[in-house]
Amino acid sequence: MCGIVGYIGNRTAYPILVKGLQRLEYRGYDSAGIALLDDEIRVYKCKGKVRDLEQLTKGNNISGNIGIGHTRWATHGLPNDINAHPHKSMNGKFVVVHNGIIENYTHLKNTLKKRGYKFVSETDTEVLANLIESIYLENKLSAENAVRLALTKVIGAYGLVVLCVDEPDKIIGSRKGSPLVVGVGNGEYYLASDATPIVEYTDRMIYLNDEELVVLSAQGLRVTTLDDVQKNPTITHVDINIDNIDKGDFEHFMLKEIYEQPTSIYDTFRGRVDLNTHQINLGGINEVMPRLAKAKRIIIVACGTSYHAGLVGEYLFEEYARMSVEVEYASEFRYRNPIIEPDDVIIAISQSGETADTLAAIRMAKEKGALILGICNVAGSSIPRETHAGIYTHAGPEIGVASTKAFTAQVMALTMMAFVMARKRNKISAEKFEQMVGDLVKIPDAITEMLKEEKNIKKIAEEYKNATNAIYLGRGYLYPVALEGALKLKEISYIHAEGYPAAEMKHGPIALIDNNMPVFVLATKDKYYEKVVNNIQEVKARQGKVIAIVSKGDETIRKMADHVIEVPNVDESLMPLVAVVPLQIISYHIAVMRGCNVDQPRNLAKSVTVE
Ligand code: AGP
Ligand code: GLU
Repeated sequence: MCGIVGYIGNRTAYPILVKGLQRLEYRGYDSAGIALLDDEIRVYKCKGKVRDLEQLTKGNNISGNIGIGHTRWATHGLPNDINAHPHKSMNGKFVVVHNGIIENYTHLKNTLKKRGYKFVSETDTEVLANLIESIYLENKLSAENAVRLALTKVIGAYGLVVLCVDEPDKIIGSRKGSPLVVGVGNGEYYLASDATPIVEYTDRMIYLNDEELVVLSAQGLRVTTLDDVQKNPTITHVDINIDNIDKGDFEHFMLKEIYEQPTSIYDTFRGRVDLNTHQINLGGINEVMPRLAKAKRIIIVACGTSYHAGLVGEYLFEEYARMSVEVEYASEFRYRNPIIEPDDVIIAISQSGETADTLAAIRMAKEKGALILGICNVAGSSIPRETHAGIYTHAGPEIGVASTKAFTAQVMALTMMAFVMARKRNKISAEKFEQMVGDLVKIPDAITEMLKEEKNIKKIAEEYKNATNAIYLGRGYLYPVALEGALKLKEISYIHAEGYPAAEMKHGPIALIDNNMPVFVLATKDKYYEKVVNNIQEVKARQGKVIAIVSKGDETIRKMADHVIEVPNVDESLMPLVAVVPLQIISYHIAVMRGCNVDQPRNLAKSVTVE
């Protein structure tokens, strides 16, 4: 689930591995380790951060032109030095790093124990190391074939990289369910769980497919299936700007990414919206447009923040395209045996494109004959490769674990799609369409204006930094924004926060309100405005503290709320793109004031490749 990096070439592997692991820190992890190979394999690993690993290696032998590294996000066994990767097999023949979960590890472990294998860690990964070794020793196979055979016995997900002490000239990698990318350099190769640690060395990448195995050596690169069928891998040129994965002048990636939103949103519609004619061309879904326009139902599947973007999509598709939409948590949908008809369209939304539940949900729906579309940020990731068509959000690498610019880019992609569908299905006039597109292209400016409020928002954050709970309320398009605001606060500040449709408050949550409860109310001037004003009164009547997000110039709410944050006036269906920004900023400042690790919050991972 977490990070992998590998190097083979003429240079010393150590600095490349350490830098690579630092580049992967954004994914969230609890321990780190490396293995270096020359005439022996040396493993260094520890609980904590990459800088702790650097301390550990100080003064030790760090030579070797071949090496692998790992940041672990514990699934089996505590985060400690012993459970950290790389894991050595019992007789020291193999060293492995692994992302994912081996589901049948108990059964495999018991079988290996009967054959005399002893285990030092609690991880499923050590089972894999010993399984490979036992097959290698018993069947007298090459390392490559031992890995191949071992993987046929494994149930679960893996991104796996293996070194063998008897074959000290190669790295073996394989994947299923967890991503693995090969970077092709000049006489050298890189391996990683995503492109970020590789882009500073080469832009030529090979994205491995599930159940493929790669062997990297001085002789070159060979990709085969687990059944040993030779593959001709495609080299993709990736275009990731190295500046995007540096913090620049910002203290945290999250703040940088919040500030990038005018640009990232622009990048989502750039090249798709004609700024003169206000027409939209979504190249990625043009081919499937006839089928999409006729769909009986759209089912959006996603997790976390992407799910919230999906909810905004539901309002947009229903209002403009008059299409029936369901939004589902991918994890529930995939196991529910849902009714999926061949004329349904599934839209998977995912920043990383690797979320295990979302991936499994689309695989299931594909089998039932539905058209599968993706809205993803990471080019070349698994979800876009398994969908029939889709739209990249082009928000650039998002490093902060808490999603910000990816959310607004997803909402922008859904907005464009809903408008295009509305026109295609003749549900809005050409004039209305043009006018909406004209409003849409002004959103980057509205966000730039919003960002000027940061100082005021920081002052409000100061007042609520010690809160233990918070409620977020919104209606219509702003209900999903309330959910997203609450998620942001809990993810990075560890304050318990819940979002509700504002009218739902009186059906339960109102019992929580007292003079210690901050209530964030999204109350811009839309068709629900009067009703939300009533909801604010209900909170005030119980002495709750109201922080209202209001339209510029709103004097009514200013008189009743404890604090107001003004947002520029934009059409209500575009308001989520702007109104979420102050909620991101307030969560950020509260978390910083509480001394939290904003970019890598505890227990969270950026790319959730386990279910
Ligand atoms: C967002 O702040 C999260 N950390 C998380 O909820 C995330 O949105 C979720 O895991 C889905 O990820 P994806 O978009 O990469 O599929
Ligand atoms: N399941 C493995 C472990 O707990 C790998 C976790 C990861 O993906 O980082 O060690």
